[in-house]
Amino acid sequence: MSESQTWHAVDEYFSSHLSPDDEPLKAALRDSEAAGLPAIGVTAPQGKLLQLLAQVAGARAILEIGTLGGYSTIWLGRALPADGMLISLEYSAKHAEVAARNIARAGLEKIVEVRVGAALETLPQLADENPPPFDLVFIDADKANNAHYVEWALRLTRAGSLIVVDNVVRGGRIADPDDDEPDVRGTRAALELIASHPRLTGTAIQTVGPKGYDGFAVARVVG
Ligand code: SAH
Ligand code: DHB
Ligand code: MG
Repeated sequence: MSESQTWHAVDEYFSSHLSPDDEPLKAALRDSEAAGLPAIGVTAPQGKLLQLLAQVAGARAILEIGTLGGYSTIWLGRALPADGMLISLEYSAKHAEVAARNIARAGLEKIVEVRVGAALETLPQLADENPPPFDLVFIDADKANNAHYVEWALRLTRAGSLIVVDNVVRGGRIADPDDDEPDVRGTRAALELIASHPRLTGTAIQTVGPKGYDGFAVARVVG
């Protein structure tokens, strides 16, 4: 087996034992693919990790930036109590439409709201509504804006909230000094903000799997 085949096989082993997709999750992937959405969502083990983090945090309100077809949204939404709230921000009206169907099929339409628009436009609108603080923010949209999203997450959370940033490794590009593409620059700025901000403490973890070599950062909002 090649190295990447091994990563795939191990992910399949973990998924099948610990985080199998049930019918609504399988249907979400099927319909996303049928609608032509790219297969760039989190894997099942990552979705389960997001769900566990939300449960450990006792989350009642979750903010997601980057919905795609709602696969990560469903994992996260299932961590919430019946009166919980998940707001997911998505640029593409088409993605949001596919996601809304997938979310409804999973029975989460009462607690999940997908808002269409560029997140840097919908975030200030959301802040103007003075929502209760979000307990977990999952940042997974255009990576060039990752630092802006961490700043918005800080404004919309409380001490103790978690901020998770996806795709912080990108095959190692994060640590390649010759790589100054906007996505990598944006992610570096987000990590440097987490490292330097007095109200944040965090870490980042490398991962391998069917979607390659990548990773995520987890930060906690303090005092
Ligand atoms: N969280 C999803 C994957 C999201 S993929 C999952 O794991 O299942 C990234 C998504 O971010 C895409 O759907 C893309 O359309 C969206 N996106 C890109 N730029 C954006 C922006 N400026 N504001 C909001 N969403 C954006
Ligand atoms: C890709 C993967 C992601 O998880 C994401 O959020 C955006 C893009 C990718 O592989 O291109
Ligand atoms: Mg991602």
